[in-house]
Amino acid sequence: NNNTLLKGKKILITAGRTEEPIDPVRYLSNRSSGQMGYSLAKAAVKMGGQVTLISGPTNLEIPEGLKEFVQVRSAQEMYEAAIKVFSSVDIAVACAAVADYKPKTYSTEKIKKKDEDLTIVLDRNPDILFEMGKLKKNQYLIGFAAETQNIIENALGKLKKKNLDMIVANNAHNMQKKTNEILIIKDKNNIKELPEESKEKLAYSILNEINLK
Ligand code: C5P
Repeated sequence: NNNTLLKGKKILITAGRTEEPIDPVRYLSNRSSGQMGYSLAKAAVKMGGQVTLISGPTNLEIPEGLKEFVQVRSAQEMYEAAIKVFSSVDIAVACAAVADYKPKTYSTEKIKKKDEDLTIVLDRNPDILFEMGKLKKNQYLIGFAAETQNIIENALGKLKKKNLDMIVANNAHNMQKKTNEILIIKDKNNIKELPEESKEKLAYSILNEINLK
C-alpha cells in the first residue's frame, strides 16, 4: 500500500466538524469525528504527498509529516483557509462535515433563560467544496456525500453540481465509527462499491483512485 502515487503532489484536505458559535458558551455542530479526513491525511503523507490539513475541532492527534496544519473552528474560518491554498494544490479532498447553517447573530454575552421559547435564526454558511469547484483549473477535486437515503442519486447530483472528479458516498450512520462502507463514484457509469473496512484502509483505496492529468 505504501506507493509513491502522490510523490511531490500538493494536497489540501478538510476534516472534522465545524462549530458555529451562538454565544460565548454554546455552539451548533454535528457528530463527525474527523477520523476519515485524518486517515486520508496520514495516507497521503505515506504516499509522498505534501499535505495541508485544515481541521475543525476533533479529539484526534495531529498526523506526522504534514506540510501544514490549520486549526479552524467555524465554517467561515475553514472556507477562508481552504480558498487561500486551493489555487496552489494539485488535489483537494473535502472531507469535513461543515455546518450548512450558522446562527445569524452572535451574542457576546451568554443568553439568559426566559420563560418563553427561544428562536435562533440561522444563515447559510458558504459551501466550501462548491466554491472550490468554481475555482477549479487542473486540480483533482474529491467530495464526500453522507446520506441516509438515495445514496447514489444524491451523490451523482453533488458530483455534477460541485464540479467534482470523484465523490465518496457513504451512509451517514458511519460518521462516528472506525469503519466505513463507501461507494467511489466518478460518473454514473463508474461506481465502485467497497466492502466495510477501516477508515485507515479506505483512505488508501480512495487516494489510489485519483487520476492526475
Ligand atoms: O451538499 P453536502 O453538504 O451534502 O456535500 C457534502 C460535501 O460538500 C462534502 O465533501 C463536504 O465536505 C462539502 N461541504 C463543504 N462546505 C459546506 C458543506 C459541504 O465543503 N458548507
